[in-house]
Amino acid sequence: MATEIKRGRIHSKEEETAQEEIWKYIFGFTPTAVVKCAIELGIPDILENHETPMTLAELTSKLGCNESSLYRIMRFLIHYKIFQEKPISETSVGYTLTPLSRLLTRRGENSMADMVLLQSSPFMLAPWHKLSAWVLGNKVLPFEAAHDGKDIWGFTAANPDQSKLFDDGMACDARVAVATVVEGCPEVFKGLKTMVDVGGGDGTALRTIVKAFPWIKGINYDLPHVVSMAPACPGVEHVGGNMFDYVPKADAAYLMKVPHDWRDEECIEILKKCRDAIPLDTGKLIIVESIVERKEDHAFKEVGLMLDMVMMAHSSNGKERTLEEWSYVFRKAGFTRHTIKHIRTYHSVIEVYP
Ligand SMILES: C[S@@+](CC[C@H](N)C(=O)[O-])C[C@H]1O[C@@H](n2cnc3c(N)ncnc32)[C@H](O)[C@@H]1O
Repeated sequence: MATEIKRGRIHSKEEETAQEEIWKYIFGFTPTAVVKCAIELGIPDILENHETPMTLAELTSKLGCNESSLYRIMRFLIHYKIFQEKPISETSVGYTLTPLSRLLTRRGENSMADMVLLQSSPFMLAPWHKLSAWVLGNKVLPFEAAHDGKDIWGFTAANPDQSKLFDDGMACDARVAVATVVEGCPEVFKGLKTMVDVGGGDGTALRTIVKAFPWIKGINYDLPHVVSMAPACPGVEHVGGNMFDYVPKADAAYLMKVPHDWRDEECIEILKKCRDAIPLDTGKLIIVESIVERKEDHAFKEVGLMLDMVMMAHSSNGKERTLEEWSYVFRKAGFTRHTIKHIRTYHSVIEVYP
């Protein structure tokens, strides 16, 4: 008995902290899972549309759900500052949104709800279970091991519902990122008459860019099954094709979250095709991607590192690149110089010149 007590005893502050912290890893998925549940139930939208704080009884009745389960969900999410309680009268309180849940309404301009639903969906979670086998040398990439040999593009091409989930997730991230680019460094778009967004998804980025700079004619270039679903937009032409075959000609090629999907060899191929598409004297690439191992501290450091793991699980050997790794692929693709601007998101803006 005495030995057991000794074995269970915490010896130092460090060990005590470790004992507490390990639970973050054991149950680290629960905040994601419960936030997903709240989005699926539409709780952020319901609270947004309710003019006053909403009581548990009102929310239960609106959802037609079990009151005690809902109470526990809300208690959990209040702890994580997703929702908050505000007094309604001296004796009652109601739920309201916080800055975090304002980002979780389905139609909000800066909503990240679709990204939460994408990343927590079964088809995106399955490859994580294949990660260790791949690190140990399994030749099949984690995504392909989880999805009958299909990479993410083959899988989404064959599964329209998952393709929509993917495009919507990318679009909500793109909406926020591109607004930050337009606000943070508008000079990047100066003098451009045409711009091709390579791997532009449903055209969300270009929609924002041509709205801010209406003299730019945008070409949204992506795989045929993606552009066939893209909504029409004045000033933007959707073109379906394969960026490994060719890239439509324009004054500049914009690439956001595309080079990181590929290992160096393919990334260099894509950059070369973009180089062929722009005028060699005046053209440039505008790359919006994260840079890992930046020297200075910044708020999105962790996001870059997490995305690098996401690339391992989901992409075709892609990665988030360091400055040196970016310089290498630019040089190999025939570019001579580049400049970098850091903006208020996990991306940086890299202008690359032939
Ligand atoms: C990570 S998503 C980024 C989408 C968008 N640029 C954004 O930032 O939200 C990568 C995009 O590359 C597209 N893509 C993948 N392979 C492609 C190819 N061979 N040719 C053209 N586009 C491709 C995908 O369909 C997808 O829309």
